[in-house]
Amino acid sequence: MKYIIANWKMNIVDNINQKFQLIKIGSDREIIICPPYTLLNDVNNSIKNCDKISLGSQDISHKASGAYTGMISPKMLTNCGCKYSIIGHSESRLYLKYDEETLIQKAKIALEYGIMPIYCIGESLNEYKNNNTKNILRDQTKLIPDDIKSKILLAYEPIWAIGSGITPKMEQISDSISFIKNELKFHNVLYGGSVVKSNFSDIMSMSDGVLIGSMSINFDDFSYCCNL
Ligand code: PGA
Repeated sequence: MKYIIANWKMNIVDNINQKFQLIKIGSDREIIICPPYTLLNDVNNSIKNCDKISLGSQDISHKASGAYTGMISPKMLTNCGCKYSIIGHSESRLYLKYDEETLIQKAKIALEYGIMPIYCIGESLNEYKNNNTKNILRDQTKLIPDDIKSKILLAYEPIWAIGSGITPKMEQISDSISFIKNELKFHNVLYGGSVVKSNFSDIMSMSDGVLIGSMSINFDDFSYCCNL
């Protein structure tokens, strides 16, 4: 199975008329739409009859319940139909200041409630330029317990590639994915960061799937890729 994950950001708000029923989906593909919280119910209704399309959230509380203003619990997410949750996207690491312990708590609580974590890691431009990518990837995953590694989707997203239109060379993506699988021992490893129509097939062939931001809100390009 290969995963195609759509990470819809705030610019989707006025454009929810996606015709999911029209998307043709390749046989070994699962599509996961991760809209902002306010659109979870709408998207859940629109994908009701699409058996290869699932719903995911862009974050999840690190606690099952309690007084945590602003947070959304795993139960609230499963009530909306969520089966997946993005955890530790570089934008939430940056703006919401999550540390590794909190992110791991999020992954654990998600799994307890039957939600598959899409756990994001990736190096900054400086770290990349200084040849530090592998150290950073090791660092960002060192607290993740071994028994969880086989249960989550690990998304490798170089921070400098997200939304920039620039990707690492294909050999570098492949090298990082092999490192994450062979050395860090994760089973399902995806790539994200400026995935577009022209690099989609190459990246899919070297990974277990992709996490797509900008291109996922272009319905024509996105549905074209779902059937490649
Ligand atoms: P992008 O975003 O595809 O626009 O680079 C990726 C992401 O947000 O994960």
